[in-house]
Amino acid sequence: MLSSLFTISFLAALGSVAAVGPAAVNLRTAGNYAILAKTGVSTVPPSVITGSVAVSPIAAAALTGFSLTLDSTGEFSTSGQVVGKLFAASYAVPTPATLTVAIGDLGTAFTDATGRVNPNFSNLASGAIGGLILAPGLYKWTTGVSIGSDVTIAGGATDTWIFQVSGTLTIAAAKKMVLTGGALASNIVWVVTGAVTASAGSHLEGVILGKTSITLQTGTTANSRLLSQTFVALQKATVTN
Ligand SMILES: *[C@@H]1O[C@H](CO)[C@@H](O)[C@H](O)[C@H]1NC(C)=O
Repeated sequence: MLSSLFTISFLAALGSVAAVGPAAVNLRTAGNYAILAKTGVSTVPPSVITGSVAVSPIAAAALTGFSLTLDSTGEFSTSGQVVGKLFAASYAVPTPATLTVAIGDLGTAFTDATGRVNPNFSNLASGAIGGLILAPGLYKWTTGVSIGSDVTIAGGATDTWIFQVSGTLTIAAAKKMVLTGGALASNIVWVVTGAVTASAGSHLEGVILGKTSITLQTGTTANSRLLSQTFVALQKATVTN
């Protein structure tokens, strides 16, 4: 009895300092970008993006709606909608090679995140996770996931979450991902095989590793990196990484 009480209090003490959840997904150089995509990034102005934006292997023509100003070096451009730089595979050396590495790193991170096994939660709530409070851990859905009301991600500043979604990820209009307990967006990964759609006025938290498109409809805000193997479409959205 005494020893089990000791064990419980010891574990409780440990829990207050030790990180809970899966090992972090290493984004490598893909983590240098707020938005990284292979086939394009579009914006319906005015969007507000804090961090760098890049496309590769496609050329700068696939950065649409930004009213780009090419820097005199030819290595990047700027936009009134981006607090940071925009890069494309068609820009001057060393940008193309740098982006090739970043896109490779994106693929590696996607493979890592989708490959994690022994989930703590499988097909939780059949993918309808609005209203739930999500503790740290590895979550796996063999279907899409929809967020129809606010969802809470609760844990400490060193805790981690990986959400594996084999299908689409959709958050309804004006609904939010809410962080509590000190949880950090940088410790949250959504790895999604289908399209990601954030409906108008919604709010996202966490790194999104998308096999296909990521669309942020009008007025969406995101404390996120949007890393897509196809395109990212923004409509008057705010992205802060
Ligand atoms: C999640 O599952 C892993 C592997 O089975 C386990 O080691 C870990 O303790 C679990 N985490 C939680 C928060 O339940």
